[in-house]
Amino acid sequence: MSKQQTWGGRFSEGPAALVRVYTESVSYDRALYAQDIAGSKAHAAMLAGIGILTEKEALAIREGLDSIQREIENGDFVWREELEDVHMNIESRLTELIGDAGKKLHTGRSRNDQVALDFRLFVSDRLRAWQELARDTAAALLEQAEKHSATLLPGCTHMQPAQPVALSQHLLAYVWMLKRDCERMADADKRARISPLGAAALAGTTYPLNPAAVAAELGMNGIFANSMDAVSDRDFAAEALFCASLVMAHLSRLCEDIIIWANPAFGFVRVSDAYSTGSSIMPQKRNPDVAELMRGKTGRVYGALTSLLTLIKGLPMTYNRDLQEDKERFIDTDRTLSLSLEAMAGMVRELTFDAGRMQAALRKGFLNATELADYLVSKGVPFREAHHITGSAVAYAEAHDKNLEDLTLQELQQQSPLIDEQVYKALDPAVAVARRNTPGGTGPDAVKAQMVAVREWLGMK
Ligand code: ARG
Repeated sequence: MSKQQTWGGRFSEGPAALVRVYTESVSYDRALYAQDIAGSKAHAAMLAGIGILTEKEALAIREGLDSIQREIENGDFVWREELEDVHMNIESRLTELIGDAGKKLHTGRSRNDQVALDFRLFVSDRLRAWQELARDTAAALLEQAEKHSATLLPGCTHMQPAQPVALSQHLLAYVWMLKRDCERMADADKRARISPLGAAALAGTTYPLNPAAVAAELGMNGIFANSMDAVSDRDFAAEALFCASLVMAHLSRLCEDIIIWANPAFGFVRVSDAYSTGSSIMPQKRNPDVAELMRGKTGRVYGALTSLLTLIKGLPMTYNRDLQEDKERFIDTDRTLSLSLEAMAGMVRELTFDAGRMQAALRKGFLNATELADYLVSKGVPFREAHHITGSAVAYAEAHDKNLEDLTLQELQQQSPLIDEQVYKALDPAVAVARRNTPGGTGPDAVKAQMVAVREWLGMK
């Protein structure tokens, strides 16, 4: 019999050294130790409740697991690769500490439902942590938005100047993305918190287990409906990775804005020293490396999602060892996403916007052309015609190297005799923004309403 393996009863030889390295997961699934211990404590309490363990045995198990948790957290626990995974490492140490009672813990349980439970608790925990971090990033954006409700900049479509907008409106757009992300994560969390414990290997068990008691003890939302589904379902992890991917997509878009705005040709924003890096050869450089890396790391998180979706697509029922590949990239995603959200919040809080540069940019690209068209509509010109007249005014102004507001009244009247002095007011970008108070618009009242709603969401006064 193999000396080392817990499952070694039917084997005459231990696995080859290479196979041990190839099959182990403890090098990364040790990250799930707290969930494994919590799950085992709940399982032991339930086993005592149905009379399979004595109260004394259950107590010994609880105390043994508590001291293992302390060993792990103090860095005193010896993780052993030959014990394969976090579950076997903890169970084997428990038996070392408390003897035979430790060997009874696994009654009515399989690593298949055990790992599914641990991973669900872990994913749920991370979904909750990500929401907190996303809320803080949203708060950082809100703080900047509140400082910049009177700062205007060119709003673009196709990356071409389109219409003037308030900087606050631009920044709040990202806040709404993050709010949806939080809602999505909260929804995914509901399904992650379904307990699979009691499914055993795949078919349920002959012991009169009480899965609902375990679920209640762990604060979960309910229990599995089908044992085969319970041990092989990783939908919850795929959902969480999709949530993470979309957060990264949103952060990456904001990174792109920051990178473009920090280019001196724009000069709209200065990234603080703490979030910039220099060049080893060009002394003048201030590179927005944090934003670039975040944009780059987005691909890595998408990779984790693609990897899991590919992993599960061809699996026959039920548990297959392939599923062990579900955790490593999730753990990597957790690290990437958590650091990215934290770095984004820090970087945003330290951005310095240059309102003067933005104001100057409003004079390039005929951002007030729509205002002229709308002005003509107010004089009774049908919109299509107003659009055409304005196009011709823009062509005239461009040919004379002027902006619309620089044309004389006579020049404008050559385009349409309906134009009078009032047109210059309409062409002012501040007026253009101030007039856009339709719901969700960039006008000050509409933006203020957004800020009130965001403050309420964030629980701020
Ligand atoms: N390390 C394994 C995993 O992550 C635990 C479950 C192993 N179960 C088994 N029957 N080999 O999937």
